[in-house]
Amino acid sequence: MTDASVVAVGTPQSFRQQVARAVEMGPDEVGWVQSATAAEELLLNAYQPIDVLVLSPEVKEPDALGLAEFVGRQAPGTAMVLVRDHTWNGLLPAAMRAGIRDVVDMTQGTEELRDAVERAIVWAGNLRSVNVAATNGQPLTRGRILSVFSSKGGTGKTFLTSNLATAISEVTGQDTAVVDLDIDMGDVFTYFGREPTATIQDLMELGEGAERARIKQIGVQLSEHLWGFGAPPDPAAEAPAGEAIGKFLRALRNEFGWVVVDASVDYSDSALVCFDLSDAICLVTGLDVVGVKHLSKSLDTLLTIGLPRERFRVVLNRADSKVGLDASDVERVMKINVDAMIPSSRLVPTSLNKGRPVVLDEPNSEVAQAVRQLAVRFAGQAEMVAAGEAGIDTSNKKKRKRFARN
Ligand SMILES: Nc1ncnc2c1ncn2[C@@H]1O[C@H](COP(=O)(O)OP(=O)(O)O)[C@@H](O)[C@H]1O
Ligand SMILES: [Mg+2]
Repeated sequence: MTDASVVAVGTPQSFRQQVARAVEMGPDEVGWVQSATAAEELLLNAYQPIDVLVLSPEVKEPDALGLAEFVGRQAPGTAMVLVRDHTWNGLLPAAMRAGIRDVVDMTQGTEELRDAVERAIVWAGNLRSVNVAATNGQPLTRGRILSVFSSKGGTGKTFLTSNLATAISEVTGQDTAVVDLDIDMGDVFTYFGREPTATIQDLMELGEGAERARIKQIGVQLSEHLWGFGAPPDPAAEAPAGEAIGKFLRALRNEFGWVVVDASVDYSDSALVCFDLSDAICLVTGLDVVGVKHLSKSLDTLLTIGLPRERFRVVLNRADSKVGLDASDVERVMKINVDAMIPSSRLVPTSLNKGRPVVLDEPNSEVAQAVRQLAVRFAGQAEMVAAGEAGIDTSNKKKRKRFARN
């Protein structure tokens, strides 16, 4: 199935066969060591990086967490999957915090194990390709993925996605993709007065090694440096698997300097893959109590599954509404700084009706300037990271990479 290096950890030795069968590899292609400590030795001495460690139910939970900590320090590119033969009590959040990618309940059959190991292989491979580029001393050429999320409709997620993407393409002069992953309710194209022409299948095929020229053909060119990717909303369509979304987004970021995604409003596989791949995630909320509570809860959920806090940006939309809440209330509830405040403006619905993003239609308006400022900040942060990667200060580089999960 793959040339990834997968190692089963823990007794009985037959666990190795079990893992091999689940991931459709030969029994000799999966490595085996007996314990967490043996796995640590192996990581220190391996002359080839190990992609995935799969821990058997025999490995005790404290040992598994200890190994996870070791992996975080010594081999941050190795993914860990923990297999249990009973339902765990409160283990999942601790495991996720320790950097374990997945906890699989074996009583549910082997399919879950296969999926978990496959996801871990994809993750490790992805991280490795980033690291290889960095250790060659070349600045990364891959684009940055920004996703925009809101746990509730009508907060301005699509408004922000389309205008932020437009502003970034203008500010940086780099080719930018704007992606509609809100499969049921997508309306990114409406903000540009256009219609998507591709199907979901067309889009997903781009992740399967499509020619680079094909990528821009499938996209709809929206302005000089901006291409849109989406399909007509179809509530009946089956949502693509997370893995397919991951490949699609990676294909886009190889082609574009920036990929700005209107993420779906749930925690589907595809949304989680999108967050895993994102360099930054904008959480959008209005200034109403329900909206802020919703978003605060989403943030907690996303932190619990292991996304690093520094990846999040909080954007207050219609931030001047007179509703009794202000930015400091939001900061208190969400325990995170507010990164941008976008005023309410009649120009937003007007520009939507015209099918022209407000950052192009009314560039001097307050609302356009607020979005552009956010774009400038993203562009500035990217430049700083790129400078760090090209520089010689490897201590910083290592630190940063440890926290980069994608
Ligand atoms: N800053 C704003 N000022 C005025 N109207 C806004 C603003 N942001 C969004 N809107 C309006 O709110 C509605 C919902 O925005 P939209 O981005 O489509 O929501 P969703 O979060 O569901 O994607 C739209 O009609 C849009 O014009
Ligand atoms: Mg929307």
